[in-house]
Formats: sequence, structure tokens, C-alpha cells
Amino acid sequence: MQPFDEIQRGRNKAYYSSEKTTIYSDFKTFGGSEKVAYANAIEFCSRVGELEDGVNIYEFGIGSGMFAYYFLEKVYELKPEIKLNYFLCDSSGKIIENAKKKLKKFSVEAIVCNAEEELDFLEDPFYIRSNELCDDLSAKFFVKVNEDGIKEVYFDRKLNKEYTNCEEEIIKAFMKTLPENYEIPINFGAGAYLNNCKKKLRKGGYIDSFDYGFASLEEVKSLPLEIWNNSIVREFNGQLTTDVNFIWLQKELGGMVEGQREYTERILKRKLYYVELEQLEYFDEADIKSRKKELKENDYEEDFILGGIDELDEYKHFRVEKR
Ligand SMILES: C[S@@+](CC[C@H](N)C(=O)[O-])C[C@H]1O[C@@H](n2cnc3c(N)ncnc32)[C@H](O)[C@@H]1O
Repeated sequence: MQPFDEIQRGRNKAYYSSEKTTIYSDFKTFGGSEKVAYANAIEFCSRVGELEDGVNIYEFGIGSGMFAYYFLEKVYELKPEIKLNYFLCDSSGKIIENAKKKLKKFSVEAIVCNAEEELDFLEDPFYIRSNELCDDLSAKFFVKVNEDGIKEVYFDRKLNKEYTNCEEEIIKAFMKTLPENYEIPINFGAGAYLNNCKKKLRKGGYIDSFDYGFASLEEVKSLPLEIWNNSIVREFNGQLTTDVNFIWLQKELGGMVEGQREYTERILKRKLYYVELEQLEYFDEADIKSRKKELKENDYEEDFILGGIDELDEYKHFRVEKR
């Protein structure tokens, strides 16, 4: 039996560095949703102001490169003269090489790195962004079995669980606020990544992290205990992931958490609807009309989409800034 992070680190390293891995056949993300990236670009252009020349942007956990592509496309449309240094940062050299091919019309630089380690290469970053990286970074699990009994959840290779004593006072104090018997992830890897980024941010700079997870006790309690405990660790073809505990991240880093769709709607100033096609996307009403055929082929009824299913609340936008 081992802490979850020890198993997760090894599995994810093997998964992302394997020649056989084709990540988007194993799971779907919002990384290729142009709406979120466009919202980032619009906000960036309104914040960058006089820093325009040579501003440094870092993206971590880049996947296909499309999250960078749509961002850069929109930034250059809005500010054609802008001079940017855009850095693609990822632990997999193979993923970086493929993304660079997609991004060949832009000038981008690449850095192979582990987001959980010291990020000494960051130079005066103005904007640091990531989509679905934090859920991949290492996490441990804890559970409150009664008012005083805080335990760590250990796992074996088949992900069977066992509870062991937890001695760390900071964790015990945090876990006392959580509902009993819910196995709660604490994403130490994401905390280290975001803290290291925050330390290096230039004045006026900011970090955006998009991911799935929970930001309130109500969200935890909204799922029956058994369903929560059986689904909090997910395995995609060997890779291990868990929800991001934004309650803990916000306690560690400050900052602000909101719904990802809420953020995107606020910046784009229009209502958006969740659709799951080849990847995850937001459609506005014009998209619903113009892509009717594709939606039908994917068994979507227009009324169903416009009915606004709320299953997306678990996708969050976490913002940390240096004023
Ligand atoms: C779930 S994919 C998300 C990709 C893309 N952002 C998207 O949303 O489609 C996670 C990405 O993070 C990278 N990654 C995983 N662990 C990492 C680590 N410790 N340091 C840096 N990159 C990592 C993977 O290689 C992969 O590109």
C-alpha cells in the first residue's frame, strides 16, 4: 500500500512519455475549445497595455497545442503588431514536437520540464495558463472518519484502498472542515506548480488554471458518499487523474475560483452551451444553428442543448494574480 501520489507520478510519466499514447483517444478536454482560448485572448489584450513589446507568456501541459493556437490566433487578430514570447512547457518532448507542428505559423518556443519542480526558467512572466494540467499533477487523499480521526488513504497497484494515520497538523486542521467519510484529494503537485508560478509573476501578471474539480463543501456533499468515493480516482488507459480541490488551492494561494463557462460567458458577453463532440466545446446560438447537421449526427437535439444542462459546473477557472 502506498500514498496515491507515488503511484500516480510513475503511471502518468509512463503514460505521457509512451510512443503509443494518443491522449485524445483516451479522454476529452476543453483544450481545443476556441471559446475559452478566445476569452483568454480578449482579456489578455485588455490587460497587457503598455507591456506590449516582448511580453512573456507560458503555457503548461500543452496537449495538442490547440489551446495555444486559438489564443494566439485571437491575440494577433486583436493586436496585429504585438510582440509576444510564447513558451510551450510540457513534460513530454513528443507532445511538444507535435504541438510545434500545429503552431508553425506562430513563433513559439518550447521547454521540456516537470511542472511540479522549481520553475527556474520562468523569466518575468506576465501570463501563465494551463488547461487540465492540475488534475494530472500528484495528489494525496485524506478522509475524516469521525471528528478527530483524520486518515490518509493508501492504495495498492489495483487501487484497493486502506486508511492509515495522518500526523500532519495542517492537513488535520483542513480536513476537519470537510464532511465525514468523503475521501478528499489534496493536489500537492498543483499547489507546488501554482506557488512556483506565483513567486515568479511580474507585477500586474496573472495565472489562469482551467480544470475540473470542486470549490465548495456543497459540491462535495451534492454527491452521495459511495458514488463520490468510487469515482474520485479515474483511470484512462493507465493514466491516473483526480478532481482538483480548489477549496484547498484557494486557501494556499488566495485568488478566485468561478465556473469555467461563467468566466467564458462573462468575457465573450454571450450565452454558451456545453456540447460533447470529438472534444468538449461551448457553442453559442449561432454555432447551434450553423452546425446543426454535426449536432444531429452526434444525437443532439437543439431543444436539449438550449435547455442548458448544468453538468458542466465541475469545470472551473482559477485565477491568481500579482498586483
Ligand atoms: C490532460 S492533458 C491536457 C492537454 C491540453 N492542455 C488539453 O487540455 O487538451 C495534460 C498535459 O499535461 C502534460 N503533463 C502531465 N504531467 C506533467 C508534468 N508533471 N509537467 C509538465 N507537463 C505535464 C501532458 O504531457 C499533457 O500534455
